Amino acid sequence: STRPYVIDEMISAKSIAARIEELCREIQTEFAGTDKLVVVGLLRGSFVFIADLVRELDLPIEVDFLEASSYGDGMESSREVRILKDLRGTIEGRDVLVVEDIVDTGHTLNHVTHLLESRLPARLKSIALLDKPSRREVDFKASWTGFEIPDEFVVGYGIDFAQRNRNLPYIGKVRFEDG
Ligand code: PRP
Ligand code: MN
Ligand code: MG
Repeated sequence: STRPYVIDEMISAKSIAARIEELCREIQTEFAGTDKLVVVGLLRGSFVFIADLVRELDLPIEVDFLEASSYGDGMESSREVRILKDLRGTIEGRDVLVVEDIVDTGHTLNHVTHLLESRLPARLKSIALLDKPSRREVDFKASWTGFEIPDEFVVGYGIDFAQRNRNLPYIGKVRFEDG
């Protein structure tokens, strides 16, 4: 159903790992002394990033997941964020880190951040591996960003194109063969 395409490597697995080490040092400084950090992954795109991030993070943590979807199988944001699966645990009075693969229009992480803020966590921070600032439609900036990227269609390391390519170990860019 999609036009033929090839995937060119954009950010290598090695660069991602190096950046995660840097980010974890900053997160550890921010949350130093926390009794328990709830690390919240946004399904499905964040599953690879959160797995690598928590294994590098030297803090007492719990892991929880929330599923919000705006794209479905398409290439265009619906701008209407739906919560398909809520957290299992409560976050009131807790330190929370929301983990996302990419901030594009900003609707998803903006919506989720407001939702979780309403539950009165002690501290709520967010981290996105990728950020496409040129695509922003709502004023949102994650507390930490791995890489700022131009407006390219990216896949891999959790990110899909029509549900494919999430398992690539690097970030690739989709290039359509018919131009
Ligand atoms: C993608 C991506 C982010 C969101 C970013 O998720 O994983 O969650 O879109 O776009 P935005 O900033 O324009 O809201 P998607 O809705 O495709 O679900 P998925 O994570 O299950 O692929
Ligand atoms: Mn997502
Ligand atoms: Mg998607």
